[in-house]
Amino acid sequence: MPFSTNARAPLTHNPASPPGDQASPMQLNVNGSTHELDNAAIDPAMPLLWVLRDVLQLTGTKYGCGVAACGACTVHVDGQPLRSCVVPLSALAGKAVRTIESLGSAAKPHALQRAWVLHQVPQCGYCQSGLLMAAAALLASKPNPSDGEIDAAITNLCRCGTTPRVREAIKSAAQSLRGTGPGAAR
Ligand code: FES
Ligand code: FES
Repeated sequence: MPFSTNARAPLTHNPASPPGDQASPMQLNVNGSTHELDNAAIDPAMPLLWVLRDVLQLTGTKYGCGVAACGACTVHVDGQPLRSCVVPLSALAGKAVRTIESLGSAAKPHALQRAWVLHQVPQCGYCQSGLLMAAAALLASKPNPSDGEIDAAITNLCRCGTTPRVREAIKSAAQSLRGTGPGAAR
């Protein structure tokens, strides 16, 4: 693995500053807040996954394979699901990153998180944040996905075998978000 998972780098946090400013220090917008990253201390080739986990301490996004194969590291970039293990920091200027930490909370869970509990989806849980982010991106573009559309969009790997329950939970959350299923839409 080319990048240390234990790297630490200087960081300041400025929620009031706008995203997209490419002046030094580099700015990275994550979950609606702009973080200023020290260009001298952080390699612009560092994958977003390690910026999130090691620099910003947002550890909900997981490392699985490092080669865009498993989906454990899935986040949203400008609303699109991307595998953060292969997205360099330098590609993110002016873009909005969203991680699992902003999907919902214990007090106000996302419809997908409620459905995940309802359908008892997680087993070991390691892959689940990536699955939830992939599912959230799917429902944002397809409010009523077919089985085929779910299977095409959710290519994340789960070695605990939760895929059938993931599919059912996505359909349940989609119903909830459309106001046609159990639970209130978020
Ligand atoms: S860790 Fe990124 S796809 Fe597996
Ligand atoms: S729940 Fe264990 S790897 Fe997916």
